[in-house]
Amino acid sequence: MNEDGVHINNGHSGLNNPDCGLEPELIQKLIQKSHEAKTKAHCPYSRFRVGAALLSQDGRIFLGCNIENACYTLGICAERTAIQTAVSEGSKKFTAIAIASDVEEEYITPCGACRQVMREFGSEWQIFLTKPNGSYVLKTLHQLLPMSFGPENLTVT
Ligand code: THU
Repeated sequence: MNEDGVHINNGHSGLNNPDCGLEPELIQKLIQKSHEAKTKAHCPYSRFRVGAALLSQDGRIFLGCNIENACYTLGICAERTAIQTAVSEGSKKFTAIAIASDVEEEYITPCGACRQVMREFGSEWQIFLTKPNGSYVLKTLHQLLPMSFGPENLTVT
């Protein structure tokens, strides 16, 4: 990691990543899969391809891409596609998500709506913001969405 919090994902093996407890090989796999997922994007309007690879606590990886619609407001982001797939397949405990786009100059970052949907399933999981070259910035969801509202807050007195 350099001084900007950027990790160069060079595939070194055998060392635990001190930041998140995930093996470097698994991080690399997750990032690679997020970029593969990006190739499925349906984005004829924005032409902005996004992919996501969501790691569940039992080790399964669920993929998602953005899916746009001629009725523009009905488009959905890659992150939420992946979460919807995971939940519909019985998985609700997540460890990490990697997000990929084609932007080479900066790290793709999830929109506010996706952050809130992620929050439904906890605050302490890891978000890998990536570039096409495989480098990433690692954040927890809590860092991306502080003072959040979640299921625990939904109490009525
Ligand atoms: N998009 C995502 O899928 N995820 C993000 O993190 C940011 C934006 C999609 C939505 C839309 O299809 C396109 O990118 C342009 O905003």
